[in-house]
Amino acid sequence: MAIGMIWAEDRHGTIGTGTDMLWHVPADFAFFKHTTVGHPVVMGRATWESLGGALPRRRNIVLTRDRAFSAPGAEVTHTLEEALALGRNGEGGDLVWITGGAQVYAEGLPLADLLVVSELDLDVTTGRHALATAPTIRQDEWELDPAASDDDWRPASGDARWRVRVYRRR
Ligand SMILES: NC(=O)c1ccc[n+]([C@@H]2O[C@H](COP(=O)([O-])OP(=O)(O)OC[C@H]3O[C@@H](n4cnc5c(N)ncnc54)[C@H](OP(=O)(O)O)[C@@H]3O)[C@@H](O)[C@H]2O)c1
Repeated sequence: MAIGMIWAEDRHGTIGTGTDMLWHVPADFAFFKHTTVGHPVVMGRATWESLGGALPRRRNIVLTRDRAFSAPGAEVTHTLEEALALGRNGEGGDLVWITGGAQVYAEGLPLADLLVVSELDLDVTTGRHALATAPTIRQDEWELDPAASDDDWRPASGDARWRVRVYRRR
C-alpha cells in the first residue's frame, strides 16, 4: 500500500482557516477529484465538517476521538493507524490518500510515500490569524519528481494561477 497526501496551499503554505478554505480554484478541485477518485480518502473531523457531505466515488474515512461521532456517508475511525488500515483493506486500497487538514497532514507526514501539492499563486494571510498550514517538506526527506511536476504555472482558474509539485520520499 502507498500513502499519498494531497493539498493546495497559498504562497505561505496556508491551507485554510481551520473551518473553511480561502479560495476558489475550480481547476484544482477537478485535479483533486481526478487524482483521488477510486481511492480511499482519510480526513480529520474538521475537514469532514467543512465538506458538507461525502466526496463521491471514494471511501470517505473520518478521524475523530469522539466515540459518539457519526458521519453519514463516511466510515468513522479513532486513530490514524486504524484509518489507514481500513483504507488499505478495501476498494482502491493500493493507494490511500490523506486529504487533510493541518493536524492530519502533520500526523501523516512520517507515514506518507508521496506528496501532491498544488501551489496557488496567491496570498490569503493578510490580516488573518489562526490559519491552518501545510506541513514543512524537508529536502533531506523528500525529492521533487520533475516528471510529475509542472515546470510552469498553469493558467489562472478562479482566484489564482496554480501548479502541481509532486514529492517522493527519498
Ligand atoms: N487546502 C487544502 O488542500 C485543504 C485540505 C483539507 C483541509 N483543509 C483545511 O484545513 C482546515 C482543517 O484542518 P485542522 O487541522 O483544523 O483539522 P483536521 O485535521 O481536518 O481535523 C482535526 C480533527 O481530526 C481528529 N483527529 C486528528 N488526528 C486524530 C487522531 N490521530 N486520532 C483521532 N482523531 C484525530 C480530531 O477530531 P475531534 O476533535 O472530533 O476528536 C481533530 O480535532 C480547514 O480550514 C480546511 O478547509 C485544506
